[in-house]
Amino acid sequence: MAFQRRIFSGIQPTGNLHLGNYLGAVRNWVALQAEYECIFCMVDMHAITASLLDPDELRRSTRELAAAMIASGIDPEKNILFNQSQNPDHATLAWIFNCVARMGWMNRMTQFKEKAGKDRENVSLGLFAYPALMAADILVYKATHVPVGEDQKQHLELTRDIAQKFNFDYQKEIFPLTEPQIFGTATRVMSLRDGMKKMSKSDPSDQSRINMTDTADQIADKIKRAKTDPDALPDSIDGLEGRPEAANLMGIYAALAGQTLEQAVADCAGRGFAEFKKLLTEVAVSHLAPITAEMRRLTADPGYVDGILRKGGERARELSAPVVAEIYDTVGFLRP
Ligand code: TYM
Repeated sequence: MAFQRRIFSGIQPTGNLHLGNYLGAVRNWVALQAEYECIFCMVDMHAITASLLDPDELRRSTRELAAAMIASGIDPEKNILFNQSQNPDHATLAWIFNCVARMGWMNRMTQFKEKAGKDRENVSLGLFAYPALMAADILVYKATHVPVGEDQKQHLELTRDIAQKFNFDYQKEIFPLTEPQIFGTATRVMSLRDGMKKMSKSDPSDQSRINMTDTADQIADKIKRAKTDPDALPDSIDGLEGRPEAANLMGIYAALAGQTLEQAVADCAGRGFAEFKKLLTEVAVSHLAPITAEMRRLTADPGYVDGILRKGGERARELSAPVVAEIYDTVGFLRP
């Protein structure tokens, strides 16, 4: 059966949008919106799985993230932009998926292992079940494509496993086998302090990431202090091998300058880091400053952002309602 092409992606409103989220995901969403029907979701229900958050802080982060997405170029009229908890159908389908997914599948999730660490017995059940909710986010709209950064690949494989098992168990082709869309020059942006670690909201060091709310001075300072090695920049991509910090900064530069990695490496060949960091700062500030300014303008009017999210939530519910009705009938739940 052919499923209508539909794009869904989500982002957690925990802390600020950072350069990794922007280059790995949001920027690609902006590119896709012209062509396809897209649904973009601030996943506030996922945001409380690691620990319960201060309610005012969660509301603030959700609004700020929505503003950051609009400021980055997401058109909230053309696309559906909303926060997850506005559509209870996600939670309904997630429960059914909790009964489809196997403990063994969940136990293999590297993000769960990383986040739980040695404290497995003490993390929330929600953190363990996180990927089933993520599968529900996607499949409650029968989304066929999900643009994400590389770190979400395993969760999307699990989404396919859940869809496949559900379809097989009920002998009906209800759900599509969703395709991940991982593209661009910055699918995995690394920490500025350690080229082997992913840039992340949960890193305790703010120096490790560039936030979309950072001022030009903060960006310059973070790039200036970013970890490097003693050698000049190489004249070929092969020369970045074994130099994780150099590879990361070159990748960020290429993505922000709109170049391929090959072009960026050729342009910067032989330069020392002091000179290259100045270039990188210029390109980062000129790219990010207009987005940050627009974000500030939008967050000054929370009523505007709330209106967009509410309307997005209504449109999302209209799309998921028939899917949930179909699932009720398939599973054998009596409909309300
Ligand atoms: P989250 O909030 O951690 O990240 C949002 C998006 O940003 C990408 N990303 C990165 N890309 C490149 N380099 C990085 N350092 C980097 N850090 C983050 C992520 O890959 C993601 O695309 N589980 C998801 C949220 C989610 C979701 C969904 C995504 C919930 N339901 C359904 C897609 C579909 C997450 O925690 O993303």
